[in-house]
Amino acid sequence: MLYIGIDLGTSAVKLLLMDSEGKIVNIVSREYPLYFPHPGWSEQKPEDWYAQTMDGIKELIKDVDRSQVAGISFGGQMHGLVILDKDDNVIRPAILWNDGRTTEETDYLNNVIGKEKLSEYTANIAFAGFTAPKILWVKNKEPENFAKIAKIMLPKDYIAYKLTGVHCTDVSDASGMLLFDVKNRKWSQEMCDICGISTSQLAKCYESYEAVGTVLPEIAAELGIPATVKVAAGAGDNAAAAVGTGTVGDNMCNISLGTSGTIFISSKNFGVDKFNALHSFAHADGSYHLMGCMLSAASCNKWWMDEIIRTKEYAAEQKNIDKLGENHVYFLPYLMGERSPHNNPNARATFIGMTMDTTREDMTQAVLEGVAFALRDSLEVAKSLGIDLKRTKICGGGAKSPLWKKMIANILNLKVDVIESEEGPAMGGAMLAAVACGEYASVEEIAAKVVKIVDTVEPDPELVAKYEARYAQFKEIYPTCKELFDKIQ
Ligand code: XUL
Repeated sequence: MLYIGIDLGTSAVKLLLMDSEGKIVNIVSREYPLYFPHPGWSEQKPEDWYAQTMDGIKELIKDVDRSQVAGISFGGQMHGLVILDKDDNVIRPAILWNDGRTTEETDYLNNVIGKEKLSEYTANIAFAGFTAPKILWVKNKEPENFAKIAKIMLPKDYIAYKLTGVHCTDVSDASGMLLFDVKNRKWSQEMCDICGISTSQLAKCYESYEAVGTVLPEIAAELGIPATVKVAAGAGDNAAAAVGTGTVGDNMCNISLGTSGTIFISSKNFGVDKFNALHSFAHADGSYHLMGCMLSAASCNKWWMDEIIRTKEYAAEQKNIDKLGENHVYFLPYLMGERSPHNNPNARATFIGMTMDTTREDMTQAVLEGVAFALRDSLEVAKSLGIDLKRTKICGGGAKSPLWKKMIANILNLKVDVIESEEGPAMGGAMLAAVACGEYASVEEIAAKVVKIVDTVEPDPELVAKYEARYAQFKEIYPTCKELFDKIQ
């Protein structure tokens, strides 16, 4: 049988076709625009997601026996607010995970409602990108739109709704809304009351590997697939990526170097970091995870390459970088503000330490290292909770760079296991579909069967020591600049 994994990302939707054995049969990608209508705002049109997804699926399955397609599922960009009116029209563009407009609402939730209450109700505190502050923003700033809301959904759930007619979500993505009681895997009535919404406006919540229904007859006809094709709830892109890299079960780690950068630690048991610096979310395998999320990771390198030095030759730019651990230039990667661990939408990107002999390579190196140092910030929080990690998986576009993987291994002092394919969320989506269709008994079973480690990047003790000293300096830059970031808004 064949399974379709849909990774609804921020720059593009990636579609992956997997067979019963976990072999990738085809991969297709379709881009859509991202809008920044004000500094710090970030929006997309759900209609673009849907049009490009349908177009991409047609291309994905055009040369295979379509009667073999059995299931579809997702990894989707998290936290985005999609609102529909009573006739299922999209009310306004979706407000995305990396949008920083909700400073006032986030402050209200954290300081007036209070972090203790939020953590008690949801296992998390408010971050600007989470969904609940966005609902409050619409309520405060666009009351006419708020009054029209019939359905609230997350980005990938809009696609599931269009495909099946079922208003559904899954536990991992629901966790990032700040409306979900993560420990008990159900909506929080308290949070709905705080946001002025009712649970009837929210989706029915499933485990990620559960089927929510089958495709609608008109969708089956349009795509030329059987009307029996099951759609599984899927997962937030990080949980889906964790499935795709086999980061399931206890104390496993995955690093994703996509538009965002995340460090994801799976856990059999529910747990909360007492300062809530890491997110405590449900996992797609039926358990839980802790996660640190930086808002700009591979996107820092993309910005530096595409917009500033204006090249598409990413690998060529990295070829001559050989003085690892010796760079005097540092880069704070906060191009969209920062989530973990600083929780500061006002944070900004910064180069520091240049001299007359600083080269273009030093600056490129600083960008790549800055992202790795910022991931290390989240790893430090995990360590302070007694979590002891020796190795991590890696996925996302940035994982294509051998240099970046070497930096990650040495700056975080972790063995980095490289998977056959870096298509984490799309692969994870297809795997969840296969479980929903009964091809495998559990997420752990399919992960053990299909995920293959093809290489391991080992940290080098000498380089680890050099980077330890560099990290000590990096750590001082943000606190030194913090006040200034607030002033220069
Ligand atoms: C996770 C997060 C990002 C997005 C990116 O909390 O906000 O990783 O899911 O798509």
